[in-house]
Amino acid sequence: MKKLIIIVIAASFGLGLMIQAVASEKMPGPDPAALWNYITKVSPYKNWAFWPDHKGLQKGRAPHGPLHRVYVNDKALNSAKPPVQYGSIEVKENYDKAENLKVITVMYKIKGYNPKDGDWFWVRYTPTGKAAKFGTPKGCVKCHGARAANDFILVHEFK
Ligand code: HEC
Repeated sequence: MKKLIIIVIAASFGLGLMIQAVASEKMPGPDPAALWNYITKVSPYKNWAFWPDHKGLQKGRAPHGPLHRVYVNDKALNSAKPPVQYGSIEVKENYDKAENLKVITVMYKIKGYNPKDGDWFWVRYTPTGKAAKFGTPKGCVKCHGARAANDFILVHEFK
């Protein structure tokens, strides 16, 4: 009986480790192609939620274009206060006035990636997933940095 219990405990521990390994394997590193694969195939962003105070199609400011939608994953959504949890992703679809999708901009929080500026990995994609700009582009970091206290997030106010 004792042996059986030990086996069961050992097996569930092993399974736990496996689940953890799979889960962490699923999050990409700071790589635009891997991130694109993640947000379109592994965990399609169109199935994500909106911030409760920024739902659906919204009017935007330069440089991002006149209309946008900002999707957030669970890690971001479940962050009660800044800074948001590691693994948080925000995907912003940028449209022109006629509602044609022009650009997709993404912020992805990666532990240890760029601690001095909130550990955000920034990407500007074409609608088909080609990364035009990525990493820590000065423009993205500087402009969003005006709200560093809100974890560089501009469409959602943490209270
Ligand atoms: C000159 C200022 C400015 C620059 C430069 C800028 N942004 Fe933004 N960004 C904004 C504003 C303002 C918003 C709020 C939504 C809107 O008005 O379009 C925003 C919103 C966002 C959002 C939605 C999440 C949030 O912060 O609320 C993402 C994602 C984003 N920007 C990514 C980027 C990326 C990637 C770059 C660089 C390639 C970049 N931004 C450069 C001003 C800027």
